[in-house]
Amino acid sequence: MRRIFLASLATALIVASGSGVAVADTAERVADGHHLAAVLRAARSVVSNNQPLINDPSKGDKGLTPEVFLDQLEATYTETNNQPLLPDDLSDLQRRLITTQLEAVSEVVAEHQGLINTPDMGFKGFIPAVFARLVNERFGEKIGGIASVKVTAPPDLVRNRKARPDGWETAVIEDKFLAPGWDKGAAWYEMVEGEQGPAFRMLIPEYYSASCLSCHGEPAGEVDVTGFPKEGGQVGDLGGAISITLNE
Ligand code: HEC
Repeated sequence: MRRIFLASLATALIVASGSGVAVADTAERVADGHHLAAVLRAARSVVSNNQPLINDPSKGDKGLTPEVFLDQLEATYTETNNQPLLPDDLSDLQRRLITTQLEAVSEVVAEHQGLINTPDMGFKGFIPAVFARLVNERFGEKIGGIASVKVTAPPDLVRNRKARPDGWETAVIEDKFLAPGWDKGAAWYEMVEGEQGPAFRMLIPEYYSASCLSCHGEPAGEVDVTGFPKEGGQVGDLGGAISITLNE
C-alpha cells in the first residue's frame, strides 16, 4: 500500500505529494464519502425511528412503503445536515452515487414489505444494521466497480462475517481510531494502490450511544434480542466504522 497523502480531519485540506492527484479531486472525494455516509446514516435513522412500528405485532400494514421511507430519509437528511439531499451543484459522479444509493434503499424497503407487514409478529430482525448491510450490498451491485460502502468494526466486535475489516480497515481502526489521542469522530482517508489501480479509501468511525447498548452493551456475553452475545460496550466506545472506496 502506498500512502500518497494523509489527513485526519475531513475539513482539513490535503498535503499534496506529487502523486498527480489534484487537491480539488481529493476534496471532492472526501465530500462524496461524507455524503454517502450521511445518506446511509439517515437511512438507518428512518429504520430506528420506525422500529416500534415495524415491531408492532398488532398491526399488519405498516404503511412504510419505499415512497414513505424515502420521504422520511430526505427529511432526516435535510434536518441533520442542513442541506438538500441532492443539491443542484452536484457533479455527475456525486449525483450518480447518491441516486444509486437511494435506489438501493428503495429496493431493499420494497423487498421487505412482506416481512414488515407480517401481522402477529413482533421483532422481525429488520433493524438498522441489517438494513444498512443490505443497502450497501445492493449499492455495490448497482454501481459496479466505481464505489463501495461497507460498515465494518474492530475485529473483536464483528458480528456478521461479511462485515469483517480487511487489512487496510484493520490498520486504520487499530493504528488511528483506537490510538490514544485520536481526535474522536475524525475520519481517515488516503489514496491506496488497489487491484484496479489507485483507489480513494475513507473510514469514518462510529461510537456507541446509549441506544446501541441494549444489543452491544453489558453484560458481555448475554444474548440480545437478535440472538447475538452482547459485546459489553460502553457509551462512547468505538463500535464500528463506515468504509468507503471510490475508484474513479
Ligand atoms: C437490536 C439490536 C441492535 C442495536 C440496538 C444495535 N445493533 Fe449494531 N448490530 C446488531 C446486529 C444483529 C448486527 C449484525 C447485522 C448483520 O447481520 O449484518 C449489528 C451490526 C453492527 C455493526 C456492523 C459490524 C458487525 O458487527 O457486523 C456495527 C458497526 C454496529 N452494529 C454498531 C451499532 C451501533 C453504533 C449501534 C447504535 C447506534 C447499534 N449497532 C445498535 C444489533 C444491534
